[in-house]
Amino acid sequence: MVREWDPRTASSAEIASLLDTLNAVLAADLPQDPPWRESSLREYLSEVMPGERRISWVAQAEPTAGGGPGAMLGHVHVLLLGDIGVLEVLVHPTTRRTGLGRDLVRLAARRVYQEGFRSIGVEVVGETPAVAFYEALGFSREYVETRSVLDLSAVGWTALAEMATAVSAGYRVEFCPGGPPDDLIDAYARAKAEVRDVDDGELRPSSYDPQRLRDSLDTLHRRGMKPYIVLAIHERTGEVAGLTEVVVPAQHPTRADQYDTIVVQDHRGYGIDRAIKARMLLELRSAEPTLAEVQTWNAQANEAMLKVNAELGYRSDREWCEYSVDVAELVHRLDPAR
Ligand SMILES: CC(C)(COP(=O)(O)OP(=O)(O)OC[C@H]1O[C@@H](n2cnc3c(N)ncnc32)[C@H](O)[C@@H]1OP(=O)(O)O)[C@@H](O)C(=O)NCCC(=O)NCCS
Repeated sequence: MVREWDPRTASSAEIASLLDTLNAVLAADLPQDPPWRESSLREYLSEVMPGERRISWVAQAEPTAGGGPGAMLGHVHVLLLGDIGVLEVLVHPTTRRTGLGRDLVRLAARRVYQEGFRSIGVEVVGETPAVAFYEALGFSREYVETRSVLDLSAVGWTALAEMATAVSAGYRVEFCPGGPPDDLIDAYARAKAEVRDVDDGELRPSSYDPQRLRDSLDTLHRRGMKPYIVLAIHERTGEVAGLTEVVVPAQHPTRADQYDTIVVQDHRGYGIDRAIKARMLLELRSAEPTLAEVQTWNAQANEAMLKVNAELGYRSDREWCEYSVDVAELVHRLDPAR
């Protein structure tokens, strides 16, 4: 049975079953990734930024013989933001190639169309069945990044400590667990606004103004995701010359996610990228003792950043692609009778 589903009011058994399906999908498609935990999973699925909406559906098996809820065999949600709907679909590996994925996309696409949105975007992991699936549905590849993973047990901490201090005179490096301090929010937002296209893909919009930045930090906290930030401050002007953001999610706390890293144009060439990333890893080592890995996504053209990441010990892992499709075309393709 496929039905619209609200994670805020779902039973704990449903959330637990969805977690089992997610972990079965990870084991099949990304076996090196750590399994997810239930901590804050409901909040992860429910909380959104102001002005955004997430609509979800599940495909659930018949109730068990004992009267318990049937297993969650599939899940789709679409996050409506700006002028696009961002889609995520999961089908349990035991139920694949039965047309369920296509049915779930059809439901979400119809709703996105009714809501007046024009396109749907999706992140697709290279070398998984999702590539053939979205291509069969007519999605086209817009953008490719490389995901890289750093194994903290293989880091040379002595060399890293040297990198962390090898920044030119005139800059101060600061660690800010939880987010940037309030008196630096404006300068932080200015640094992000200047370098929009450095490190982030289209589907992970950054926050360019102070209020949006505060909202985005609040949303992260509500979703059980703990942000850590390292800043390089230009001492003469007080401006944020560089920043790097890492988030430790309650759902997979042994593997953190690197978000934006930005060095503002005027401050490039002073060792800031290397120093702030090295300082971040040193700080995480004591702040998050159970952390084992950090993953990061980079545009393949961003050679400077890829070079620094390789020096730090990151190893490239998978292609991470953005696909998109025109909603009207998708609805028509999946539902020609309408
Ligand atoms: C992608 C996914 C949703 C597909 O679900 P599904 O129910 O198996 O898809 P469908 O049965 O509706 O397939 C529709 C069409 O897509 C194509 N397709 C799907 N899987 C395919 C595969 N493994 N190889 C080739 N084509 C495939 C086929 O054209 C298929 O039509 P057909 O079976 O009539 O030939 C499912 O594999 C999945 O959950 N993947 C994980 C997605 C994800 O986000 N993972 C994140 C962490 S890795």
